[in-house]
Amino acid sequence: MTKSATFQIGDKTIDMPVRSGSIGPDVVDIAKLYSQTGAFTYDPGFMSTASCESGITYIDGDAGVLLYRGYPIDQLAEQGDFLETCHLLLHGELPTAAQKADFDYRVTRHTMVHEQMARFFQGFRRDAHPMAVMVGCVGAMAAFYHDSTDITDPYQRMVASMRLIAKIPTLAAMTYKYNVGQPFVYPKNDLDYTSNFLRMCYAVPCEEYKVNPVIARALDRIFILHADHEQNASTSTVRLAGSSGANPFACIAAGIACLWGPAHGGANEAALAMLGEIGTVDNIPAFIAKVKDKSDHTRLMGFGHRVYKNYDPRATLMQKTCHEVLAEMGIKDDPLLDVAMELERIALSDEYFIERRLYPNVDFYSGITLKAMGFPVSMFTVLFAVARTVGWIAQWKEMIEDPSYKIGRPRQLYTGAPRRDYTPISKR
Ligand code: ACO
Repeated sequence: MTKSATFQIGDKTIDMPVRSGSIGPDVVDIAKLYSQTGAFTYDPGFMSTASCESGITYIDGDAGVLLYRGYPIDQLAEQGDFLETCHLLLHGELPTAAQKADFDYRVTRHTMVHEQMARFFQGFRRDAHPMAVMVGCVGAMAAFYHDSTDITDPYQRMVASMRLIAKIPTLAAMTYKYNVGQPFVYPKNDLDYTSNFLRMCYAVPCEEYKVNPVIARALDRIFILHADHEQNASTSTVRLAGSSGANPFACIAAGIACLWGPAHGGANEAALAMLGEIGTVDNIPAFIAKVKDKSDHTRLMGFGHRVYKNYDPRATLMQKTCHEVLAEMGIKDDPLLDVAMELERIALSDEYFIERRLYPNVDFYSGITLKAMGFPVSMFTVLFAVARTVGWIAQWKEMIEDPSYKIGRPRQLYTGAPRRDYTPISKR
């Protein structure tokens, strides 16, 4: 039976079709509401609004479930590797062995960036925030790879996708090297994706660098955990930018800009800063009191999520990865980890957090983990961008390939001045 919803506005009653997905909540299709009633819907922050149809990622925030193309995140993170996840997100299926070898080969063959991009970096101050550099350099890719900016050509779309997945780690590592004043390290294509990235970050020309396989595996898992997350703020930004027909490099640069904010990808940086500020376990009660004090505006960073009203499934895996990395790096007593674990214990048993269904999100433990791997705090969001690029590009491609896609153009509830006449400056 086809479902519908009835709306009554003034003396008009209209039926709206209700659409069901494969799983998850139904949606009321309100596309014709304005033409039939003259009214818009109002939902700033998209609290009840599905902005698109997608077959890539599914989240059940109440149950704490995250699926990429139907596969639970824990199975992918524990059993697969990042490039396999990239293939899955981009093409819809896990690759066969032959497809995987081909996909890995193609990504690997695109890891170098145009040599002139190295000079592009020199326009930035060395102390620029790495995310500022990333926004600039990824946007600049459109100026270097003209042969993959025609979005109407499926081949060019695929080349742009592979280039972005392959070159983002190279640009991220160059950003880091530029920041610390060391020479750029070229990719070495006999290494896997994540080991290659670690080497580009940490190798120096004067000595041999051996990638620690435990750390590479942990970072690869972190990349899987961050690869996609449904219609979050940065992904929606990529879709909106792309809906005008902008090229994929410009769209991903827009996504990186959005990811930078502390309520989104900047949260792991903010969470680590918060743990440092708390300092010791004794200071936790005073900090929790500040968080609960509404006049103070302090938030427990790395806690809470717009969608998850249960434990973020990525947080469980991240906590496990955190312990593995600290053990591998020989860090026995990290005061930040002690603070994090005690903070989590207290918050999960505190009425304020229980009532509001606030649980640790993926960022709660990722800062400690990335710090233990040797990354400076300012690089944390860059690492998130490296991982999320595949999700952004898969969502962008899905949108472009949907024959019914339109430019995204929200409307508004206007509360400004009604029409008034211009007064000459001498009369104001
Ligand atoms: N600490 C304390 N209180 C919080 C927190 C928090 N981290 N998050 C939400 N609350 C409270 C709010 O004060 C509000 O309380 P009230 O009802 O008494 O006013 C209630 O919980 C609901 O909060 P909203 O801000 O309305 O929830 P929203 O869904 O808009 O926010 C967000 C989600 C932005 C993630 C928020 O929880 C937050 O700021 N968390 C900290 C930042 C963070 O960790 N972001 C990472 C997100 S995950 C990611 O991007 C990978």
